Amino acid sequence: MSFPVHRPRRLRIDSRLRGMIRDVSLSPANLIYPLFVVDQIAEPHEISAMPGQKHWPVALVHEPVAEAMRKGVIAFILFGVPSAKDAHGSQAYDADSVVCRALRHIRQHCPQAYLITDVCLCAYTDHGHCGMLKDDGSIDNDSSIDLIARMALAHAQAGADMVAPSDMMDGRIGAIRNLLDTNGLVDLPIMSYSAKYASAFYGPFREAAGSAPGKGDRSGYQMDFRFARDAMVEFELDLEEGADILMVKPGLAYLDMVKLARDNFPCPIAVYQVSGEYSMIKAAAEKGWVNERAVALESLYAMRRAGADLILTYFAPQVAEWLQEAKS
Ligand code: PBG
Repeated sequence: MSFPVHRPRRLRIDSRLRGMIRDVSLSPANLIYPLFVVDQIAEPHEISAMPGQKHWPVALVHEPVAEAMRKGVIAFILFGVPSAKDAHGSQAYDADSVVCRALRHIRQHCPQAYLITDVCLCAYTDHGHCGMLKDDGSIDNDSSIDLIARMALAHAQAGADMVAPSDMMDGRIGAIRNLLDTNGLVDLPIMSYSAKYASAFYGPFREAAGSAPGKGDRSGYQMDFRFARDAMVEFELDLEEGADILMVKPGLAYLDMVKLARDNFPCPIAVYQVSGEYSMIKAAAEKGWVNERAVALESLYAMRRAGADLILTYFAPQVAEWLQEAKS
């Protein structure tokens, strides 16, 4: 191929033609909106590190759901912030946990909402780790996955449409699948946070969920972003253990992993545009340094181009609105 016979600009000059040949799409159906449900608060509160996102009391959490649904977003992922934490994260797997109550409440008000729950102990343990600790402070992987499976079962029995384990313990997908199946929930899908990296991009979320570890960090279970081949191991294990959807997290800095998953597995692939990615765009836009709408949309299209079917994003309802405006 060479100039002057080949002129790639011929396909770019006319906006009608550009619209005809695009091969990457984005629709509200691709989006999952994360919501924080907080126990024992009466009013919603702004989350200061995540402008535009709120802590919701159970009694009002149907409001953002209904509003997003009016804009075309139907899927949500719920994060719970409990009233009390302990060494075993006991509120996590309680049938009356903040997430279980939120599930029943939303179901009553918005029966058509597709409700996914984040399954992880970190917001429920007093030490803030995603699994149980042994006396010496190390992670007790194998007893943690029993509790994580019980948490998933509690959510499923309270009406979740799908569970999404984010703890990164070994064997948790198999443990969850097994417990769901023995309780007759054979058709409930699991979206696994499969390639989840130990990332500084989760900073604002830890304020939102009150889930920062007291001592140490999460490098003993979340993945090392300097070890690329490890992702294939996690994808393969999670599929073998029964995961239905594989997720990569964070998003923009990890699109190579989205592509890797897309190229190797036929199952749906999800990607999480995490709190730090959201807040960085918000902060730069507030300063007038970038155009929020343009940068947010460009990032989400890039995730779709890399091969993501689903995107978890705090921009979800806003994006649905932008896409609607672009059409009209
Ligand atoms: C819980 C969990 C985290 C996120 C999703 N589930 C935090 C963490 O692993 O520290 C991060 C989401 C975000 O930053 O938006 N384990």
